[in-house]
Amino acid sequence: NQYQIALVVGSLRSESINRKFADALVRLAPAEFSFKHVEIGDLPLYNQDEENNPPESVKRLKDAIKSAHGVLFVTPEYNRSVPGVLKNAIDHASRPYGQSAWAGKPAGVIGVSIGAIGTAMAQQHLRNMLAYLDMPTLGQPEAFIHAKEGLYDEAGNISLGSKQFLQGWMDKYVAWVKKHNA
Ligand code: FNR
Repeated sequence: NQYQIALVVGSLRSESINRKFADALVRLAPAEFSFKHVEIGDLPLYNQDEENNPPESVKRLKDAIKSAHGVLFVTPEYNRSVPGVLKNAIDHASRPYGQSAWAGKPAGVIGVSIGAIGTAMAQQHLRNMLAYLDMPTLGQPEAFIHAKEGLYDEAGNISLGSKQFLQGWMDKYVAWVKKHNA
């Protein structure tokens, strides 16, 4: 695999609809792309006092981001923003000042919700952070996925109704990552 992508899911829930969606979405990528889930559930709450002596979990997170060719964020929306666990991970890997793991990594943002606006507000908040972190982030197409009956087929793949749209999204993401690694 030529391109390794750090897959950051903003939910720790074992039955997470975002994790399930992420696993189906990455199957739409070409063989030259591989996606690896980045663990964020074992990070301590960020505390600047500990910044110069980070635990293994933080080092592992930063290494995973640094060694990736791009990042794919798949996040739920919590109270019209990103879950705290995701913000915590973003803060950890952005520090110490000047040593952010995120800088320059091309990013994609997507999410699923049982609510009608499909994580639109969370994604917008996330885009704000990624802009500050100097991550070139795919702007279009936007994808606000509403979790409905029939999103997946029996094998857990994206079903026909959404496949064309999400394949188009993935194709754009793939081209974006390649462009920023050229
Ligand atoms: C939610 N949920 C939610 N949904 C939404 O569309 N907008 C929102 O602002 C919120 N807020 C919110 C806050 C909290 C604390 C929880 C626990 C949930 C519902 C959310 O979309 C739903 O629980 C999803 O299933 C969460 O995603 P995962 O964990 O299944 O990936």
